[in-house]
Amino acid sequence: EMKDNTVIIVFGASGDLAKKKTFPALFGLFRQGFLPPDVKIVGYARTKMERDDFCARAVSYIKNAQNDAEITASIGKFKDLLSYVTGSYDDGAGFDALDVHLKDIEAKYTSKDRNRLFYFALPPNVFVTVAKNIKEHCYAEPGVNRIIVEKPFGKDLDSARELLSSLKQYWSEEETYRIDHYLGKEMVKNILVLRFANVTVGGIWDKSHISNVQITFKEPFGTEGRGGYFDSFGIIRDVLQNHLLQVLSILTMERPVSFSAEDIRDEKVKVLRSIPPITREDTLLGQYVGADGKPGYLEDETVPRGSVCPTFAATTLWINNPRWEGVPFILKAGKALNEAKVEVRIQFKDVTQGIFDDITRNELVIRIQPSEAIYLKMNAKTPGLQTRAMATEMDLTYNRRFADAKIPEAYEALILDALQGDHSNFVRHDELDVAWKIFTPILHWIDGTSGTRPSPVGYAYGSRGPAELNAFVERYGYQRT
Ligand code: BG6
Repeated sequence: EMKDNTVIIVFGASGDLAKKKTFPALFGLFRQGFLPPDVKIVGYARTKMERDDFCARAVSYIKNAQNDAEITASIGKFKDLLSYVTGSYDDGAGFDALDVHLKDIEAKYTSKDRNRLFYFALPPNVFVTVAKNIKEHCYAEPGVNRIIVEKPFGKDLDSARELLSSLKQYWSEEETYRIDHYLGKEMVKNILVLRFANVTVGGIWDKSHISNVQITFKEPFGTEGRGGYFDSFGIIRDVLQNHLLQVLSILTMERPVSFSAEDIRDEKVKVLRSIPPITREDTLLGQYVGADGKPGYLEDETVPRGSVCPTFAATTLWINNPRWEGVPFILKAGKALNEAKVEVRIQFKDVTQGIFDDITRNELVIRIQPSEAIYLKMNAKTPGLQTRAMATEMDLTYNRRFADAKIPEAYEALILDALQGDHSNFVRHDELDVAWKIFTPILHWIDGTSGTRPSPVGYAYGSRGPAELNAFVERYGYQRT
């Protein structure tokens, strides 16, 4: 449940993540009445700033293009909740000052519990220092203290384990909320309902009915300006090992005993443990090259010369359990492609020796973004006096069916969960561990740890990806419908 009298502290408050995601999400929750009563929000960062400057920055990404009066008024009220403390991340004195500031706020609260939610909008090299300093200087008792952290959680299995065990010295699993923001997306959450609240979907969810599954992430822009970070991580760490693997685990896990966080995460871990490490043979790597006036990856000044870092990857995973044995799960993600789209495409098997010609396979598509939708490609009778089958769709497109519904932002949903102490949509330590086990061997190959680095194939900025992609997905039985 939600604690009254909570202070939310945002570290890295002047950075990009905070400006683009954290504060807009906090504002969204505030506006919809989902923040705890009397909540206050404190920013902390190294940049010296007046409170007004901080407030201006914090609201700079809140959407209000039409200058809507109601939104403007809410922004004003939201600013009243904000305050700012300057300090460094490695010096206890800054955290002492923060603690004094927090106690000042809490002195006005009615309960003696002091509840603090610490949000790390920080680069990973300061995670441990900040975790330690908060624990030593800003831990409130009595009260509930929680931290929210976000990837990167290490670069491979060993470094992730080291990071997690360092953090564990100060913060328990119970107090830790590891964000994978895909778990906050409406259509990702919807997968559980689709699977476990429908006898139709639930009944065909296995290797007897499903031929192959693709989970696809496409972005129409490159790494412009972010090349430094990106180059040391690559697309697999950026998107596949976390976001797409999370979607995969929800798609394939067995039904949890209950809807509780631990039951759900137990099942996710179990299915992930059934996936052997991915292999080179099952992997296609690409890197975008300049086209139509758009710069290639290597032309980005923040990217090291001659980098072989993949900006595109397709890789096939296999699940060794009775439900999924032999079904290929293709994860693919790329930057600088032709469109923005994230979707799950479940392709079913052929109808056995049909009585109709020209029929195509059924496909269930869950479009995660943009324009949330679920549609089933299926065959129906062509309208008219002849009896002929044709391919058509059963279509549940959200903005048509639920025209007035507001789809929450992922970060809104997740911050609310953390405020309420619900871990269901956060990554448990053992989930992270097994995710790294699946990807570490291929990452070491790509990094050159185990010999020569593989060269990605080129694909044009704005294209559908490497030319090899069609043959790649066909190899796993995908048929274009
Ligand atoms: C982030 C990646 O985790 O997810 C980015 O680091 C990527 O590279 C982003 O652009 C995609 O998130 P969304 O919500 O826009 O799909």
